[in-house]
Amino acid sequence: MSFNTFGQMFRFTTFGESHGPAIGCVVDGCPPRIPLTAADIQHHLDKRRPGQSRFTTQRQEPDAVKIMSGVFRDEATGQDVTTGTPILLLIENVDQRSKDYSDIKDKYRPGHAGYVYDAKYGVHDYRGGGRASARETASRVAAGAVARRIVPGLSVRAALVQMGPHKIDRSRFDWNEVDNNPFFCPDPVQAEFYATYLDSVRKEGSSVGAVIEVVAEGVPAGIGAPVYGKLDADLAAALMSINAVKAVEIGDGFATAAMRGEENADEMRIGNDNKPVFLSNHAGGILGGIATGQPVVARFAVKPTSSILTPRQTVDRYGRDTEILTKGRHDPCVGIRAVPVAEAMVACVIADHYLRHRGQVGEGRAWPFPMPGA
Ligand SMILES: Cc1cc2nc3c(=O)[nH]c(=O)nc-3n(C[C@H](O)[C@H](O)[C@H](O)COP(=O)(O)O)c2cc1C
Repeated sequence: MSFNTFGQMFRFTTFGESHGPAIGCVVDGCPPRIPLTAADIQHHLDKRRPGQSRFTTQRQEPDAVKIMSGVFRDEATGQDVTTGTPILLLIENVDQRSKDYSDIKDKYRPGHAGYVYDAKYGVHDYRGGGRASARETASRVAAGAVARRIVPGLSVRAALVQMGPHKIDRSRFDWNEVDNNPFFCPDPVQAEFYATYLDSVRKEGSSVGAVIEVVAEGVPAGIGAPVYGKLDADLAAALMSINAVKAVEIGDGFATAAMRGEENADEMRIGNDNKPVFLSNHAGGILGGIATGQPVVARFAVKPTSSILTPRQTVDRYGRDTEILTKGRHDPCVGIRAVPVAEAMVACVIADHYLRHRGQVGEGRAWPFPMPGA
């Protein structure tokens, strides 16, 4: 009854708290002989790392990952490869400042998880949110870096497409721009606006929400599962499990409610390589819980950071009304650092389904099928 484990065949368990000595995960079910080094994982952790711009928390964590098990040098190739045994990934916490939280030790931050953890467990790790802190998401990014290596040709990218009420201009969407600004924003013009906007929000001691879009390409048609194991259901659960996420949509999502059938259903033709081509992708690459081979597209909304400098009404652990003002170091828009976390969760879901599909169906049946009698 602990729920710290994600996935079925590709499975990881995370451990650790915001202000404990270390966090990390154990990845189990990774196939053997997959090249893997700490540098492969570090690359992704560096994207999520705090303190990289004035627009994220100033906590300075190097997030240096150590591979403690499950990897061995292959004599034949000289490469470090997975052995098929559990891979323990360890990240030390080095910049805890628990005293930032001593003033609010017995108070609940509205919008944070202090009260519900207390209602459930009766223990209150007030230091930076304890286990409910998004510090935990570094472990997911580490697991995701392993997952990315499992599915050949898989690419998973995410971008921030809305900050507060301000959406990007879709006509300027350029994946190459995502790493050129501190917001993972694909629209360079809107990224400049976000800098001014978020500065003003931060100076007011406030915070804002965001929308993130994730696109997975190279997802083989046929992976996924029907009924209770739907790929879209697992993606929604995986994204919803990220801290501060309040809504998830797949493909055209909520907009499909206002569409007509002719508009929404993605028409099909036979392409040059004898494979089906879809003329649009309103479905977001999934039908019946199974991948169509088109890009898998998901979008999710992240709420504004609950820890803000503006005084708020709350209660304490001893049943008294009080006020709270959260100092400490916080992300004014948690949607920014949620971008690499979202990529990781989507990579984990797809790797898990890929292995599950291979387990049940093996190579599968070549499509198109021969005409009966031909
Ligand atoms: C990358 C990331 C960073 C976050 N940083 C903060 C933060 O600095 N301060 C804060 O109050 N919440 C932060 N959060 C959100 C809280 O972890 C989250 O709101 C809290 O655990 C309650 O859970 P819930 O919002 O999912 O219900 C962050 C979330 C993410 C994804």
